[in-house]
Amino acid sequence: MPANNSHRLIRTVLVGLGSVNRNLLDILASKKERLLNEYGLEFRVVCIADSSGVAMDSLGYDPATLRQEKAAGKRVSDMRGYNRSLRVTDVIEDQACDLVMEASPVNLEHGDPGLAITRAALSNGISVVLANKAPLVLAFHELHQLARDNDCKLGFSATVCGGLPVVNIGRRDLVAADIELLRGIFNSTCNFILDEMATGRSYEDALLEAQRRGIAEADPALDVEGWDTANKLSIIANSILGMSVTLEDIKVSGITALTQDFVMAEKEQGRRVKLVATAHEGKLSVGPVSLPDSDFLANCDGWEMGVEIHSDIYGKMYHKLWEREPIPTAASMLRDAVNILADKR
Ligand SMILES: NC(=O)c1ccc[n+]([C@@H]2O[C@H](COP(=O)([O-])OP(=O)(O)OC[C@H]3O[C@@H](n4cnc5c(N)ncnc54)[C@H](OP(=O)(O)O)[C@@H]3O)[C@@H](O)[C@H]2O)c1
Repeated sequence: MPANNSHRLIRTVLVGLGSVNRNLLDILASKKERLLNEYGLEFRVVCIADSSGVAMDSLGYDPATLRQEKAAGKRVSDMRGYNRSLRVTDVIEDQACDLVMEASPVNLEHGDPGLAITRAALSNGISVVLANKAPLVLAFHELHQLARDNDCKLGFSATVCGGLPVVNIGRRDLVAADIELLRGIFNSTCNFILDEMATGRSYEDALLEAQRRGIAEADPALDVEGWDTANKLSIIANSILGMSVTLEDIKVSGITALTQDFVMAEKEQGRRVKLVATAHEGKLSVGPVSLPDSDFLANCDGWEMGVEIHSDIYGKMYHKLWEREPIPTAASMLRDAVNILADKR
């Protein structure tokens, strides 16, 4: 890529400093020169938030140091710039930032803190990149309207299958397509557990490994009961299938009722049990399906996620991704940020 001679300082807020945003900090540190040279962007992390509170330093936090400190168990309330009464929304309302990158836990009841922060940022003309699905699941169309009204952007490619650009393919590359069928494996925690169960490993043991690798949700019930997959399907339906849906429009079942004997017996018969999301003829569902070994989704193994899209003018597409730790998810947040900032140049 040719050198970029512009230099834009992007005062960035990180909400959540867990698996995803810690990987984002790593990427911001390791790709700093590249982002400056190729895109003319300097991301300065000026505000950070975790469950202990919010800290602000307009001179910025060094990403590598912050990552190390957080990984070593330090909390935001122990860090420079912490202010007990400060809220992320104060930083937004003071126009003390240019971008919010939101990766706090999913809360499907009220959506917060992600939903309130996203509303505040977009209302103030500040673009947001989400890894957290809850704001979109609860208020997809409202948030997009806010972004349009206030001339800013909402990036969310990381919310669906981490690094797999399902949303981008659907929105950018399937121009004028009618999508006739979309089915996919969108939750690598379930996919890993089911594959391991097929080889005789226990459900509990496999779930523990997914948690240790930072792939499982903070509340793993969201994964194994199918809700994480349903969240992603609702985002896909609203963003690329031209639908207007909520979770109530999706028939959902998870993997908790499956026994190891059943999963192993299916494998012996040449079938693979997978948690599959399907959109077909206006109906949306999530549930376990026994697929023949020859099926594309049956061959999305372990840490892979995949999507199959049949449309009227682009044929049948098959995409998959291997993601064992959420580095590609963090990279997708960066991708969204760079694309948003390039558009708003
Ligand atoms: N992990 C993945 O593979 C993946 C992939 C795609 C999308 N996502 C989504 O990305 C988001 C983050 O995932 P993660 O794996 O990084 O989760 P995580 O490891 O559990 O980290 C969550 C972070 O949010 C912080 N937090 C909790 N309550 C908060 C509050 N009220 N205000 C500000 N911060 C708060 C936590 O603080 P403490 O550090 O103090 O606990 C923690 O730093 C989730 O919404 C998830 O669904 C994750």
